[in-house]
Amino acid sequence: MVKLGVNIDHVATLRQARYARMPGAHNEEPCLLTAARECEAAGAHSITLHLREDRRHIQDRDIHLLRRELKVPLNLEMGNAPEIVEIACGVRPAYACLVPENREEITTEGGLDVVSHREAITATTRRLQATGTRVSMFIDPLPEQVQAAADLGADMIELHTGAYANASPHDRAEELHRLISAGRQGHTLGLQINAGHGITIANLPPLKAIPHLAELNIGHHLISRALFTGLRAAVAEMLAVMRT
Ligand code: PXP
Repeated sequence: MVKLGVNIDHVATLRQARYARMPGAHNEEPCLLTAARECEAAGAHSITLHLREDRRHIQDRDIHLLRRELKVPLNLEMGNAPEIVEIACGVRPAYACLVPENREEITTEGGLDVVSHREAITATTRRLQATGTRVSMFIDPLPEQVQAAADLGADMIELHTGAYANASPHDRAEELHRLISAGRQGHTLGLQINAGHGITIANLPPLKAIPHLAELNIGHHLISRALFTGLRAAVAEMLAVMRT
């Protein structure tokens, strides 16, 4: 079965909206660890956090706490910035997904431009892997990006599904086709195939056509649904859609 990684950055976004200037206040909420445990209880296979340079949502203490307390693997999304790489090497998450954080690292569609940043990405990939972390690269479903990710030593790629999610009904088939081709190519090159961004209960079913798909990473839709259903139910509902 395809696995589900839940991105809970938005839980921290809500907490920071009120408590950014009172870090560690006794009454701060919502609790990130409780959110992660609700996801685990519903059957989520991993928890994703994105430690951004500006610390707009996830804080360093969140990473350390969840790394210590989670039963499922922690997937750390991260830009390739020296400070963040240093933290990741200390935390040693099960997976790290390299994502673009600065304008110049972003392809026109939003994935990490691994073709243009070969040296820097190779160095970070090797450092992370030396600490036991498996490395994923969040890329557009383009042949040259898939090939470069394999050349640079990625263990996994996460195919950017944003263009698919945002496409008009007319263009969606073409975007899906690009994801399918990229999945096939990546598998042939020995990469684990993951996908994420903009996935919802409504747009998920066609994505099952991506060959060798191992894991989906979903955040915004689940946290949005959770406002009405609760987080545990939202994650369970998504898993049910993935299974059928
Ligand atoms: N995967 C990656 C690499 C991301 O950066 C994000 C967004 O934080 C997601 C998945 C989840 O996207 P969404 O919040 O749209 O589900």
